[in-house]
This record gives sequence, C-alpha cells and structure tokens, in this order.
Amino acid sequence: MARGPDNTLKWATLLVLAALGIAVTAATNPGIVARITQKGLDYASQQGVAVLKKELEKIQIPDQSGSFKIKILGKGHYSFYSMDVRGFQIPTSQIKLLPNEGLSLSIRNANAKISGKWKARKSFIKTSGNFELSVEGVSISVGLKLGLDPASGHMTASSSSCTNRIDRVHLRTSGSSLGWLIKLFHKNIESSLRNSMTNKICEVVTRTVSSKLQPYLQTLPVTAKIDKVAGIDYSLVAPPKATAESLDGQLKGEFFNLAHHDPPPFAPPLLAFPADHDRMVYLGLSDYFFNTAGLVYHKAGILRMTLKDDMIPKESSFRLTTKFFGSFLPQVAKSFPNMKVQFVIGAASPPHLTMSPAGLVLTPSVDAQAYAVFPNSSLAPLFLLEMNTKISVNVSVKSNRFVGEIKMDKLLLELKHSSIGSFPVELLQDIMNYAIPTVVLPKVNERLQEGFPLPLLKHLQVFNLVLQSHQNFLLVGADVRCS
Ligand SMILES: *[C@@H]1O[C@H](CO)[C@@H](O)[C@H](O)[C@H]1NC(C)=O
Ligand SMILES: *[C@@H]1O[C@H](CO)[C@@H](O)[C@H](O)[C@H]1NC(C)=O
Repeated sequence: MARGPDNTLKWATLLVLAALGIAVTAATNPGIVARITQKGLDYASQQGVAVLKKELEKIQIPDQSGSFKIKILGKGHYSFYSMDVRGFQIPTSQIKLLPNEGLSLSIRNANAKISGKWKARKSFIKTSGNFELSVEGVSISVGLKLGLDPASGHMTASSSSCTNRIDRVHLRTSGSSLGWLIKLFHKNIESSLRNSMTNKICEVVTRTVSSKLQPYLQTLPVTAKIDKVAGIDYSLVAPPKATAESLDGQLKGEFFNLAHHDPPPFAPPLLAFPADHDRMVYLGLSDYFFNTAGLVYHKAGILRMTLKDDMIPKESSFRLTTKFFGSFLPQVAKSFPNMKVQFVIGAASPPHLTMSPAGLVLTPSVDAQAYAVFPNSSLAPLFLLEMNTKISVNVSVKSNRFVGEIKMDKLLLELKHSSIGSFPVELLQDIMNYAIPTVVLPKVNERLQEGFPLPLLKHLQVFNLVLQSHQNFLLVGADVRCS
C-alpha cells in the first residue's frame, strides 16, 4: 500500500475525527433514557386536551355590532354582547410524532356553543333577545417544539405553529317576532362571530402551551434528594428527540454527593434500547446510574456497619464473645477472657453492579475487622477477613419509587491479617454465613426498600409495570395515569 504524504494526512484526519466521534459519543451518553411511546402520547393528548378545553371555554368574544339597511326607512343598528363560550367538545385529538422536529397536536370535529344577547334598533323599531351560535367542525393543528433549558436541565415546550379552521356556524335567535329584521344581518353576524372565534383559538392554544404545558414539564425533577448523603441528577442532557416511534429524553442519570458533585471516573454505556412499545413510558436505567450510587455511598464512608453480639438472635448458638470464639480459636479466649467480640463490616471498594439479560449481580468485596471489646469499651484488633460473594438484586417499583432487595450466595472468606496468629479461616465460615445473612442483609434490604424516586411528572402514577434486565441496563416499562 502506497502511503504518500497525502495519505498520511488523510489517515491523521480520520483518526482525529474518529477520536472526536468517540469523545462526543462518550460525553453524551445519558445515564438514563426515558421514552414515551405513541400510547403514552395518546394518553398525554387526552389529558392535554382536557386542559385545553377549559381554556377554550374561557375565550372572551368581544361585543359585535353593525348596521343594516331597510328600504325606505334607512339604516338600523344591531349589537351582540354578553357572550359566553361553553360546551367546547373535542371528540378527537391526536399527538403525532414529527421525526427530528417535535410533536404535532391535531384536533378535528370539535364544536362549541356561544350564547349571548342581542338587540337591534331602527328609530321606532326596537327589538332584543338571546341567541345561541353553534360552532361546528373546528379543527386545530399545533406544532409543539420541545427543547432543553441548559441552565436548569428542564424540558421546555413552545408552540412552533398553530392553524385552525371553523367549518360552519349556525345562529339561532329568540325573543323577537321580527324574523324579517334578523334576516337583514344574520349572515353578517354569523361571519363576524366566526372570524372572532377563529382569531381567538390559536391565541388560546399558544398561551395554554406556555402557561400550562411548560410549567407542568418543569415538575419533572432535575434533582431528587435521596438522603443526607446523596441526590440524583435527573436533568436533561439534550433536547427531547422525536423519532418515528417515540419521543426520547436523555437524562444525566447520576447519583452525586450533596456536599460535592464530583464527576465519576467512568462513563455511561450506550443503551441498546429494545423496540418495545406496548407501555406508555419506558425508562432505561444504565449500570452507570446504579454504579454512581455505589461510588457516592462508598466515598461517603457509610457502607459500613458494626456487628455486635446483641444483634444476634437470642436463640442462636452462635455468639459474638471471646468465649464462643475460644471454642475454635483458643488464643482468643486466652488473651481476651470474657469479652464481647465485634465486627466492623464495610465495602472494601465501591460495589459494582453488573447487568445482563440473566439479571442484576453485585460482586462486592467486603472487609470484616474483628475486635475484642474491653470492659472500658476500647477495642483490641483480632483479625481482618475479606469476604466475597455473589449477590443477586431483585428490583421493583413501589408507589413511584424504585426499590430493591438482595439475596446472597455463600460467603467465601479469606484471612487478610491476624493479630492472634494464623488460623484456618474455614473455622469462621459457619458463623459468618449465619451472621451476615441474618443480621446485616436485612438491614441492607431495609434501606434498599426505601429506594429512590423515579423521574416522573407531578400527579402521575405508574402501573402495569414490566422490568427487564438487559446488557448494561435495566428497562422499566409502565403505563401512567393522572392521580
Ligand atoms: C482499656 O483497658 C485496656 C485493658 O485493661 C487497657 O489496655 C487500655 O489502655 C484501656 N483503655 C482506656 C482508653 O482506658
Ligand atoms: C422481587 O420483588 C418483588 C416485589 O418485592 C416480588 O414480588 C418478587 O417475587 C421478587 N422476585 C424474586 C425473584 O425474588
């Protein structure tokens, strides 16, 4: 292969582009992908249209007046006033996906009634009454542009276009026997009321998007405080993207320490999202997301606990005393007679969660330092164990919170250090395989059952859940309803 200077340059350029490509991809992978399917948009359309209907019924039609001519008698005047729009019916509406653009909301065959009063006058002829105008075949088409407020990470919405049309109006008046008179301005008033209404509809729609939809989208939390230590960053990292099948949002999806928000030393993976669409929403929670939790809690030094004798069930024959340990480690009973033993148990490194179609697995390395406790409460180190095990994680969703439960395999022990001389670590297998699952595991599970909140808009409840473990991420599908 001939490689002249031109080719070298080409290669260099390609390499730089490839490197940039990788850097850009890596930097923009979200920790969580949120997907709204057409089914979800259909529900959103129903809910949105219910709000829009109320706003449309608040339309204020300005008083209308005009003149008419009567042969011989000359000009007369009429006016329509005290008008109310009511009963806006919107039987069909749909939100459609416009790939790479956004969404469009279309309403067809809507209808409404306008009621009010009218009066007409020509010198000695004076008449008045009530009227009702049926507005039929109203269609509205709105383009919705969804974006991102980079300062806050919130989603934004604005209407990019709006058109509307009214097919027919029909005026009925009451209160006068002068039907011939009304005929003189019937057509005029119909068309001016229709124009008036046509001009108002898009004004109301556009205003509703900015005064109702936009603030509602702000209720999607960009940070969720979990406890004294950690919060979750749920902010959007890119504007929501419409594809032919769904609306996708990319969320940062990262746990952070409330005191200092350090970037984690690893990056989110690319999520191979399946094409499921029978639920309204899907969340892809990456292993990155869960592993930032492990990192934050480990760094904060709270993934540890002290295991003491009074935590061991009374009926157990295993005791955390030097007497009991003396039965297989005579040196302990001899050097520290009649004392309690306690273990300080903690994760040796941030727990790492592996996700695959087979499930969620943690393979933590846990240290357990044993101490003898003097009567004055000071501690004498006995030995340090390393405990390895495989933990399977069962996740579920309870009242809009993501909760977990872990189960562990047998512990494999290794003696890392001993202050009482070397001994076969197998002697401790039974007691540790009793104490950890009986005492430590329930405490961990208690905490995991508190869980953390799912990123959801206000008033939404999830139901019909499906949870699937995939390579690198957990897929949560659900239907939602307004509560
Ligand atoms: C506690 O008692 C042990 C043994 O009697 C002794 O070695 C240690 O210095 C004492 N510690 C304190 C803080 O009094
Ligand atoms: C996982 O947790 C859920 C809810 O707590 C429970 O219904 C389910 O049986 C658990 N699955 C396993 C495999 O333990």
